[in-house]
Amino acid sequence: MTQSPPKTYHVKSFGCQMNVYDGERMSELLTARGMTPASEGAEADLVVLNTCHIREKAVDKVYSDIGRLKREDGSRPMIAVAGCVAQAEGSEITRRTKAVDIVVGPQAYHRLPGLIDDVVAGREAVDTDMPAHSKFELLPGRTRRSGPSAFLTVQEGCDKFCTYCVVPYTRGAEVSRPWSAILDEARALIDAGAREITLLGQNVNAWTGEDEAGRMQGLDALIRALDRLPGLARIRYTTSHPNDMTQELIEAHAEVPKLMPFLHLPVQAGSDRILKAMNRSHSRESYLRILERVRAARSDIALSGDFIVGFPGETDAEFEETLSIVREARYAQCFSFKYSPRPGTPAADMADQIAADVMDERLQRLQAALNTHQHAFNQATVGKRTTILLERKGRHPGQLIGKTPWLQSVHIDAASAAIGDLIEVDILSAGPNSLAGLIASRQAA
Ligand code: SAH
Ligand code: SF4
Ligand code: F3S
Repeated sequence: MTQSPPKTYHVKSFGCQMNVYDGERMSELLTARGMTPASEGAEADLVVLNTCHIREKAVDKVYSDIGRLKREDGSRPMIAVAGCVAQAEGSEITRRTKAVDIVVGPQAYHRLPGLIDDVVAGREAVDTDMPAHSKFELLPGRTRRSGPSAFLTVQEGCDKFCTYCVVPYTRGAEVSRPWSAILDEARALIDAGAREITLLGQNVNAWTGEDEAGRMQGLDALIRALDRLPGLARIRYTTSHPNDMTQELIEAHAEVPKLMPFLHLPVQAGSDRILKAMNRSHSRESYLRILERVRAARSDIALSGDFIVGFPGETDAEFEETLSIVREARYAQCFSFKYSPRPGTPAADMADQIAADVMDERLQRLQAALNTHQHAFNQATVGKRTTILLERKGRHPGQLIGKTPWLQSVHIDAASAAIGDLIEVDILSAGPNSLAGLIASRQAA
């Protein structure tokens, strides 16, 4: 069946920050094709669901979202499933539901305009290629106005093959974008309004590339080059793998003024036997030693991590080791998840899958411990003066929300300040998830 060419679009991204970045690039691509974003509340002619495959719940959400796109008269917009579910399921999606017109993987979305043409012409539009030519070279330049805080993907894919994880299958092998392409894009983002750039990668600290002089460099050198860009105030990077945490990168935390004192370094579990079964290729001790070195370089650094509870075979005693690593690491914030068996991953076929009620109980205990640390970390900033970057409006009239160097949200009443400003604030109080502050002066950096 043919369809008329869509004029308006809406892109909805799920999952990690890299998907948010991809969603922005797809929006720019559709704009370059002459389409316009659907205004709020209006129905788009094309809906792109930019999906995540990391846990089962994330996948279920996609199918329920597709169902909801049906209109009262039985018609529906053109629907594209992009992202990691598209890569993992491919044409299985169009077999399972006739409502989906386009399936496009994370390495093929630069071809979205051609796929739309295919649908209009009544052809099948499934593309889960991982082309040798990087999509980045074929996407239009950064065109949209940027918020004060922008994402910039510098590395994609993963060669680590943790036994629970789908990312190596959905995103492909580790690839680093070239030095000059990254710096050009950073300059474009700064011109478009960005004051902070977060470098993204599934293993961002595995980034390598040649600088202008042809020397092989790591992420630390790229960060130092970004530090020299006028107009940029803050640099962050995420997500890092413990095995790629080089001494040079640790030293950058001591030396690079614009690099924020924050490190997201997932450990996943506290027991060496579980870490081995996960194929993490680092131990509890080697991980804790990295944290020590990072703290020695930058004593005020805020640490963050990811945890999985209920990995197959995890005993009560092994879970206790996760609780004890949390006590030792003193995280400022963390994400924690119940293990979700993913099709095609080795852990999904392991014996001793853990019962749901045991996982629930472990997650509750872990989150209670993590919340205690997060609250304590926030509490320790009360009474201090710090700089925040104002990023968005708050819920109350006149209220703005900014971020501290340690990534905490601060609510302020800001009649005299605007989004994009860097201002000094005095922290008045702290809750588990955010802080309240008062403007101290307008002369901050
Ligand atoms: N590359 C990053 C993050 C990948 S996905 C890293 O290695 O740290 C983000 C987080 O999702 C992971 O850190 C892990 O905690 C969680 N995760 C991945 N696969 C999962 C699964 N099968 N079940 C539950 N949580 C999972
Ligand atoms: Fe997944 Fe492990 Fe790769 Fe992270 S390092 S993306 S958890 S396989
Ligand atoms: Fe999800 Fe794919 Fe990111 S599986 S977490 S969207 S890399």
